[in-house]
Amino acid sequence: MSNLPYQSLEELRCEVLNCQRCELAKTRTNVVFGVGNPQAEVLFVGEGPGENEDLQGEPFVGRGGQLLDKMLAVIDLSREKNIYIANMVKCRPPKNRDPLPAEQDCCIDYLRNQVALIRPKIIVCLGRISACRIIDPNFKVTKQHGEWFSRNGVFMMGTFHPAALLRSPVNKPAAFDDFLKLRDKIHEICTHTYF
Ligand code: URA
Repeated sequence: MSNLPYQSLEELRCEVLNCQRCELAKTRTNVVFGVGNPQAEVLFVGEGPGENEDLQGEPFVGRGGQLLDKMLAVIDLSREKNIYIANMVKCRPPKNRDPLPAEQDCCIDYLRNQVALIRPKIIVCLGRISACRIIDPNFKVTKQHGEWFSRNGVFMMGTFHPAALLRSPVNKPAAFDDFLKLRDKIHEICTHTYF
């Protein structure tokens, strides 16, 4: 598969909804393609659907998702308005285990195609799995969260996964700081996110 075989998100979504590339297809209820504004300048990338996402077909709709929506609202972002949210893998790994490297390999071209169509200026990686795959294989969230990286003209940041914040609320202030850095970067380089 080359990087841009599908010319629109709707075409790509139709393909992904029927995907049988890996074993996760056998146990999923719904494919979780992604949600948000196709013209978004900011793309958030999580790890993979959990139970609620699998049942509803939308990313980050469980408790972690509610926390994410609250943090987004603080900096005037929302999935209904001005961002896009996707995951590394589009189908739920059983018992919410980490997606296997082979499963990520099967799915990564779908994310690449989403990035090529949305053309975000900023990508925010939620948690270790997406930060290691997208920013740097040795990315350490506790040490490098909130740092900006530039890859092919796109600014990238890794921050805490919302589910990790629910487990370790002590990291919430640091995560809020990351979101404030994100707001600053949006003001600096984005043209229609806040307007
Ligand atoms: N965790 C993720 O990484 N993505 C989701 O969509 C839900 C939970």
